[in-house]
Amino acid sequence: MSKIPVIVDCDPGHDDMMALVIACCSPELDVKLVTTVAGNKPLELVTRNALNVMHYIGADHIPLAEGCDRPIVRPKDHVIPKLAEFRRHTDSIENGAHGASGLDGFTFPENNPKKPIGIRAVEAMANVLRESEQKVTIIPLGPLTNVALLLRCYPHLISKIEKISLMGGSSEFVFTRPFMEFNTFVDPEATKIVFESGVPIIMYGYDVTYTVLYDQSVIDRIASHDNQTSYMVSQLLKAFMYRHNGAFKWLGLTDTCPIHDACAVAGVVDPSLITQSRYLHVDIETGGDFLNGATVCDYANTTHLKPNVQVVYRMDNERFFDLMERCSAGGK
Ligand code: RIB
Ligand code: CA
Repeated sequence: MSKIPVIVDCDPGHDDMMALVIACCSPELDVKLVTTVAGNKPLELVTRNALNVMHYIGADHIPLAEGCDRPIVRPKDHVIPKLAEFRRHTDSIENGAHGASGLDGFTFPENNPKKPIGIRAVEAMANVLRESEQKVTIIPLGPLTNVALLLRCYPHLISKIEKISLMGGSSEFVFTRPFMEFNTFVDPEATKIVFESGVPIIMYGYDVTYTVLYDQSVIDRIASHDNQTSYMVSQLLKAFMYRHNGAFKWLGLTDTCPIHDACAVAGVVDPSLITQSRYLHVDIETGGDFLNGATVCDYANTTHLKPNVQVVYRMDNERFFDLMERCSAGGK
């Protein structure tokens, strides 16, 4: 079976780290490029984190290109006031779910030799699409800024995209920011461009990611393998469980935790992991005060518009955690 060519766009982040390990250590995938986008943390930090993870797991051969340091339309810090307000009432942990570094919980070796390539993410993505004999799957794990600009700058290359398997959105109320999740909240306009592009989209939103919750037994299984990738993964999963559940205390999670981004990669490695999904027309709110970035799902087909998204609701959790363990153990 030929490998699936993919591009991973990320903003590490603990769950991005897990997604990168699965992507880079799965024999089913051929990771052509990793790109970074400002989201969980500013661009400089998420890029440093991605480079550290890739070098540490032995993925130096995969190029990394830096992308956008802010949303397409909204100001760089548009998220902060709303999030600051939101988090004044929720965060009981300084620096939020990912910590000050964006990957608190593990110290990577200094002087990482892996550096970003000399061109920006959008151009690097276009080069991969242009040069690939097969259609390429794009896996966005942060705000959709880079992907939206790719679609706008290179419309003639859209036909080279197989599908977009993204972590983002939420069809049901989950947070006090109803209907939407962080990635779509950061760059609503980019999200709208991607969802209106006509490219097949598989959406792994909070609907599914808050049902795929790892626990200490998963951490222990990963830690039981004697290699540096497993150790790094187990340490960061442990840290993320503490930080995420402390930052969002009101979710009531104590000894389980989501690993959002890993779902979007796992579904590309093995689509049979998806056990429940619906094809719906999904539109994106960009003009409100409180719901910007909301993924509005037309459950009852009241718009009579053609479905543009496969919304994932459930995955086979046990086989998903097996994949997490297998890839962590298979790393360097
Ligand atoms: O809402 C979860 C998403 O926001 C994940 O991609 C996480 O890494 C953050 O980017
Ligand atoms: Ca992310």
